[in-house]
Amino acid sequence: MKLAVAIDGPAGAGKSTIAKILGKKFDLMYINTGAMYRAVTFVAMKNNIAPTDIETLCSEVKKMEMHFENDELYLNGENINDRLTLPDISKNVSEYAAIKEVRTLLVDLQRNMAQKYDSIMDGRDIGTVVLKDAKYKFFLTATPEERADRRYKEFKEKHLDVKYEDILEDIKKRDYYDTHREVDPLRKADDAVQIDTTGLDIDGVVNKISKYIVK
Ligand code: C5P
Repeated sequence: MKLAVAIDGPAGAGKSTIAKILGKKFDLMYINTGAMYRAVTFVAMKNNIAPTDIETLCSEVKKMEMHFENDELYLNGENINDRLTLPDISKNVSEYAAIKEVRTLLVDLQRNMAQKYDSIMDGRDIGTVVLKDAKYKFFLTATPEERADRRYKEFKEKHLDVKYEDILEDIKKRDYYDTHREVDPLRKADDAVQIDTTGLDIDGVVNKISKYIVK
């Protein structure tokens, strides 16, 4: 059996930053499931496929070959990482991620990856659905304002012209959508360790989680 670490939590809680560092530290493949839902959204928007056209959408998703190299997502051999965090994708991703048929296809891919590699996987439903039997499960939280502030700084570093208020609104909308959707909503698994990262720096969170992991 491969070792699996599940990290769930709302947008901007620091999941991917933390998972990347822990992945290096414990030699685990980092699987960013949010990037996979974003890639589906990217393909849907590029091909003008509405979230209501489930048949066309699923046939496109089945053609998508996705894998991770150095923490980055490759779609059909091309590194599309930079395009996945653009505000347009962030605004629309939750709607595509709420489609049951899309989730079934992506969960299958995610489980296949976890069968091949010792992994650390982050998302919304990893501890509750994708890797229910993961040895270690963590649920990261932080206030919406702190999460929006982190995203704002990330965008500014990339010289993108964004407004803090817009990011906060996007985060609050996604929180609502992700926790209220019918299929696999965001929630803490009963056996996950909850860590409130408000006011903690990255090292603080990494140290807290590292104490639990024995490889
Ligand atoms: O993690 P990230 O913020 O990039 O995820 C983007 C969106 O993808 C989330 O807001 C959520 O709607 C969806 N998602 C999901 N299940 C996952 C990971 C992400 O529904 N396991």
